[in-house]
Amino acid sequence: MASNSTSVSLLTPYKMGSFELSHRVVMPPMTRKRSYNNTPQSHAIEYYAQRTTKGGFLISESTSASDISNGSPNMPGIWTEDQAEAWKPIVDSVHGKGGVFFCQLWHPGRLSDSSLNNFLIAWNAANKKKKFIETEMAAKSSPVPLLTPYKMGSFELSHRVVMPPMTRNRSYNNTPQPHAIEYYAQRATKGGFIISESTSASDISNGSPNMPGIWTKDQTEAWKPIVDSVHGKGGVFFCQLWHPGRLSDSTLNNFIMFWKAVPDDGEYFKPTPKQLKANELPLIVNNFRIAARNAIEAGFDGVEINSANSYIIDQFLNDQVNDRTDEYGGSIENRCRLALEIIGAVVEEIGADRVGIKLSLFSEVYGKKDSNPEFLSTYLASELTKLGVLYLHVFEPKDEPRCLKSIRSAFEGTLIASGGYNKTDGDEAITESYADLVSFGRLFLANPDLPKRFEANAPLNKHDRSTFYKTDPVVGYTDYPSLEIAC
Ligand SMILES: Cc1cc2nc3c(=O)[nH]c(=O)nc-3n(C[C@H](O)[C@H](O)[C@H](O)COP(=O)(O)O)c2cc1C
Repeated sequence: MASNSTSVSLLTPYKMGSFELSHRVVMPPMTRKRSYNNTPQSHAIEYYAQRTTKGGFLISESTSASDISNGSPNMPGIWTEDQAEAWKPIVDSVHGKGGVFFCQLWHPGRLSDSSLNNFLIAWNAANKKKKFIETEMAAKSSPVPLLTPYKMGSFELSHRVVMPPMTRNRSYNNTPQPHAIEYYAQRATKGGFIISESTSASDISNGSPNMPGIWTKDQTEAWKPIVDSVHGKGGVFFCQLWHPGRLSDSTLNNFIMFWKAVPDDGEYFKPTPKQLKANELPLIVNNFRIAARNAIEAGFDGVEINSANSYIIDQFLNDQVNDRTDEYGGSIENRCRLALEIIGAVVEEIGADRVGIKLSLFSEVYGKKDSNPEFLSTYLASELTKLGVLYLHVFEPKDEPRCLKSIRSAFEGTLIASGGYNKTDGDEAITESYADLVSFGRLFLANPDLPKRFEANAPLNKHDRSTFYKTDPVVGYTDYPSLEIAC
């Protein structure tokens, strides 16, 4: 063994404190639900002994630290003398083979099973407790958890299949067009939640001449029949506001950007972006405030502030992009300052209960991911909780699935998961309370009646990427068939 130690590193010895382990292959805690009445059973003697090696390290399955919060009647406990006694022969069997055995202690808190005795939820606000129990009950009682109702603030959603913002590049001259009436209406359902495509908050920074804006009266008016069409079908409709910053299209008027030269600018940014001065930032904050006011005037139920996808807010948040040395760069508080100023202004303008935020901190920003996205997103989530915003909508990249757990615990509002979900893992996310709602981008784009298809377990249309951003008012836009037409 010693002679192989460099080539088989898992099988090399390791000294963990006072424990001399002969190898590094650890058996982690694994709940097995065979400890009837919360008491370890004699069959566990063989189970653990089978997996023991001399100098091997095992950690027991989760073992309840008390009866005030319990996950299952078949998971072991260690709060009574009887339970402690029942563990002894099991522990002896591991020691008999020379193993090191730790007991994992747990307390499930809000994940307790409410049907067990002494159920008491270790959690904070009473209303959140109630909401959680209602949510769980609703999800458990439906065969399709994604199709269970959910109360998001004052909005009574009838299902959890959200249509996320999707740029479609068909709003000529930055003005929403009548063909968007049909597009959004096709995807609206009674109690369904839709977020509009990215909508420019001002003309000082613009992504494309065919993306809608909401900074002028004409644009605001042009949105009205589109919003009405969603409301006409009973949907809830938010407007996503954005400001692309250094990703503006420099050929458009009034182009200004923040940032300085970096080695890859030649590839992504032409011309090289210049850094916004601190005294120019209040203008950006005010752009968002006015755009939010206009969105409410257009009839939208609220706004989502696009703080994702490497646009201006994300550029400030990310320590691999933001190289400022003033009060908007450096520390986490400084990098979050612009985001919180913008969101604070919008909250002041239209009320926190109408404001959602989209984040994508776990994904690359043109090759640069923040050095500690978990810390950054947790900090931001707790600051957004203080502001009382309605929801967080978070994109999870493919290479980092299921990265929302820390945000979930830091944020008290509604959590929307996004990125690569299908019906099966969307259902799972709801059942496990990993998220409250799930957004489906490409699936909604190609399947106007997506919730219905989920309900019927019907086949799905495939999206055609080549028409995502085509400016055609019909092709790849309103011509995806719904179930009735397809059948
Ligand atoms: C055609 C298209 C356009 C998009 N435009 C936007 C956008 O304007 N704003 C935004 O925040 N996200 C945008 N996204 C990302 C989606 O909102 C969503 O997070 C992502 O598509 C989720 O992944 P999924 O398509 O795998 O469900 C876009 C996605 C697609 C497919």
